[in-house]
Order: sequence, then structure tokens, then C-alpha cells
Amino acid sequence: MIIDIKSVLSTIKNAKTIKALDDIKVEYLGKKGKLSSSMSELKDASIEEKKRIGKYINDIKTSIIEALENKKTELEEKEFQATLLSEKIDVTLDAKPGKVGKIHPITKVTEEIFNILKSFSFKFVTGPEIETDFFNFTALNIPKFHPARQMHDTFYLKDSDKMLRTHTSPVQIHQMVNHTPPIKVFTCGTVYRNDYDATHTPMFHQLEVLYVDKDVTFTNMKWFCMEFCKAFFETDKIKIRLRPSYFPFTEPSAELDVAYKRGDDGQFIIGDGDDWLEIVGCGMVHPNVIKNCDINPNVYQGFAFGFGIERLASLKYGIPDLRGYFDYNAKWMDCFGFNPL
Ligand code: PHE
Repeated sequence: MIIDIKSVLSTIKNAKTIKALDDIKVEYLGKKGKLSSSMSELKDASIEEKKRIGKYINDIKTSIIEALENKKTELEEKEFQATLLSEKIDVTLDAKPGKVGKIHPITKVTEEIFNILKSFSFKFVTGPEIETDFFNFTALNIPKFHPARQMHDTFYLKDSDKMLRTHTSPVQIHQMVNHTPPIKVFTCGTVYRNDYDATHTPMFHQLEVLYVDKDVTFTNMKWFCMEFCKAFFETDKIKIRLRPSYFPFTEPSAELDVAYKRGDDGQFIIGDGDDWLEIVGCGMVHPNVIKNCDINPNVYQGFAFGFGIERLASLKYGIPDLRGYFDYNAKWMDCFGFNPL
């Protein structure tokens, strides 16, 4: 059989796929391929001819193998480049912006108040959230069957005389029982009442200030209330009034109101106008409370004040419904212009 090596090499050169190369390989180099049959045709030839033609066939075989290998490498490289192109990743593409957290209004307002109280050299203290009757009520001059207990909607612990504290005022007792005056402290934390509507949640935050020393007067308290409001609402133009009120643990007791008016968009403008907003409960620590803590009320007097942090945050930032504070809805905070951390 005559093999036109030139045409075989050019077929290899023009092959488009690896499969086509495999077919050529089988056609020429396979067991029943053209080269093997050429070899078998030699069996009747003379030794001289066998040598000559055998070498010729081997040379053809070598050049076909070589051409096939070269072409295979070339086609594989082409295939690889094509894959690279089709799977190309554009690393210059902008990344999607990540979600950035925002500080929760309760945390923000608490930090603001901390800074104000620290600037008046009040010390931060804490107390337990599970309280006994003595700290939450009795020592605060609210004995058993006192009607004021009903206003607190208390959560009692099962099979126990303990309760979730209904206010931060028990921290006053922990301080006065354990320290001798001067006591100049503030505390803040969660308190619990069985109440749920737009202006009440069963868990909320209170902040409480206590100052006990010799010669502490109602005037001192009024001055302090004024300075606190100026700092908190960030304006010197503030009008306050102390309206007589009742708390069993203070005497006299007062509600601190600030003057406000409504802006065109319905927002509160604090420090202007003739309407009044109640923000803080306060008063002179009742002598009975001081006595209950083994301190002599004839030597020491004090003032205390306490308020809900949610309420103050709502007034300052115009947040209408208290329940939003605890909904875990990040979008809710966007409405009130809180900045990313
Ligand atoms: N504990 C009172 C309340 O929860 C607030 C208060 C604190 C009033 C201190 C007077 C003095 O309503």
C-alpha cells in the first residue's frame, strides 16, 4: 500500500478537534491501520526489500506520531484558552456595598446621658434585676397593701416572693444600705411592668440619679434638673417647671416638665412654646427611706430623679411608637436619621 505521507501530514495539520486526531491515529497507527497492513504485505519480500521498506514505514510512523502529538498540544492549548475566555471573571467589578450597622437609639441616648452625668461627677453603679420585696417596695416607703404597689403591675417570680424590678429606685436602697454619704451615683438598666401599648412595653429602660449628703436642698435639685435638660436637649433656651406630684419614696415630689411646641412637620421643638411635656419624676429622698437604710435623716438629705430612657429618646428624636425599639427591624432606625457606626 502506498501512503502519501504529505497528504497525511496536511490532514493532521488541518484537524480541528482532538477527536479527529484520534481517528487519524486509528486509521494509520491502529492494529488494523494502514501501516500494519503495509507491514504485513512485506512478508513475501526479500530481506533487502524488507529492510528498506521497513525503515521507510517506520520513518513514516515516527513523523505521523510526531505530527499528531504536536497538533494535539496545539489543540489542547486552544481549548484551554477558550475555557479561560468563557470563564473570565472581571475582578474590576465594584463589590456590592455591605450592610453597616447603626447605633440603637436607646444606646445612643444612654451614652449621651452617661456623658452628662459623668461631667457632674456622678458615679455609675448597678443593681440586680430580680429584686426582693424589701428593695423594690418596703424600703422605698411602699409597705404591703400600699395602693402605690398597684400602679406597678409587677411580674412576680413563680413560687417565690421575688420579682422583676419595676423601677431602678431599688438601686438607691442598695447604695444607701452599703455606703455612708456622700453618695452621688446614677444607674441605668432594664425594668419590667406588665403593660403593652404604643407608650408602654413590658421591658423598658430607666435611669436614676441619687445624691445624698449634708445640706442637699430642693433648690440644688431644681438647678441640677435645669442643667441636665439644657445638656440633654442641647439648648440653653430651655424652660422647665416642677409640678407637685406624689411618689412614696420622695417628699416633696415633683414631675419635671419641659416647655415645647410643635414644628410645621409635627416634630417637638423643645425649649419653645407654652405646652408642657412631662419627662422626669423627682423629689427629695423621703426621711423614712433614709431611715430604712440606717442613715440619720436629721443629718443627711438627698434628691433622686428617675425617668424612662425610651421616652426621652422618643422626645429628642421624634419616635412615636415605643414598640419599634424592640422589633429588631433595622429599617425602622433609618426613619429617624441615625447615622451608621
Ligand atoms: N421610680 C419612679 C418611677 O418609676 C421614678 C422616680 C425616681 C421618682 C426617683 C422620683 C425619684 O416612676
